[in-house]
Amino acid sequence: MPIQIVRNDITKIKCDAIDNAANNSLLGGGGVDGAIHRAAGLGLLEECRKLGGCKTGEAKITGAYKLPCKYVIHTVGPVWHGGGFGEEQLLISCYRNSLRIAKEYKCETVAFPLISAGVYGYPKDEALRIAVSEISRFLLENEMTVTIVVYDKQSFQVSKKLIADIREYIDERYIDEHFIERSNLYFDVQFPKQKTADLRDVVGSIDESFSEMLLRKIDEKGMTDAQCYKKANIDRKLFSKIRNNPGYKPSKPTAIGFAIALELPLDEATDLLLKAGYALSPSSKFDVIVEYFIRNQRYDIFEINEALFEFDQPLLGV
Ligand code: APR
Repeated sequence: MPIQIVRNDITKIKCDAIDNAANNSLLGGGGVDGAIHRAAGLGLLEECRKLGGCKTGEAKITGAYKLPCKYVIHTVGPVWHGGGFGEEQLLISCYRNSLRIAKEYKCETVAFPLISAGVYGYPKDEALRIAVSEISRFLLENEMTVTIVVYDKQSFQVSKKLIADIREYIDERYIDEHFIERSNLYFDVQFPKQKTADLRDVVGSIDESFSEMLLRKIDEKGMTDAQCYKKANIDRKLFSKIRNNPGYKPSKPTAIGFAIALELPLDEATDLLLKAGYALSPSSKFDVIVEYFIRNQRYDIFEINEALFEFDQPLLGV
């Protein structure tokens, strides 16, 4: 998946390059800067000394020394002064310049901390949204796998109301409703009450594969293939496998990602998952949360990830 969000210590991430939230001197500091310098060893500081500092919003690259990656891209984020001093533009430049350099150095995998979201005081949820939108924009035109490494839960400011709704859905409605639906399911499948299609359509829809239904839905929605798989956060190679092989069976998160990207209502999402051999299960909190969002027609993969993160569930690619 081109863009992922993980909870980890960035100094542990094995990839081509990690980004460092440095300061203008590039001579180390606290937070992630301190952690990277400690893990890399003195060689990093020696090399940084020769760089002559770095302007806010710009980025410079060095070796990684004892870190499990090839390069460190140092960038200097803006200090938050309330939002009226060009902070957003400077933060955007940090991501753009870091990604530009990573591309120049032919990096295929890059990890970012949340730049400016610590000592520099940038509101964490806004810092995360800017990171996700800038990285997503870059990935529309470039092939790279980018990981955003979130170090503390505060980075996801999930609204308390949303969490309360989901909790209620998990604890009460969902189980009852699902139980009732299950008991009716037999009849729905045997005598589809809402379907007035004749037998030909019903037989046709049973024969349709996951791939065929996916491509049909992309056409019906007036989307391009690229718009769909980017929104589902699926890379181009995987999509072309699915497109060229009608019998292809995707993973469950991939199938769910497409249902979200196509903004399918629950019955169609269930149908699409079924064609890949999956169902949303009441015994999986991940499935329950995904179903909550689909049932409420909330298709923002970022918002879904905030909720999944809050409930310590794996994330959908963002
Ligand atoms: N791995 C991943 N993320 C981390 C780690 C780590 N080991 N340590 C901290 N973070 C997270 C913080 O939780 C925060 O969300 O990195 C984000 C950026 O926080 P800071 O490191 O404080 O960076 P920033 O807010 O950009 O401030 C930069 O702090 O460390 C000094 O020298 C640095 O002066 C500069 C300033």
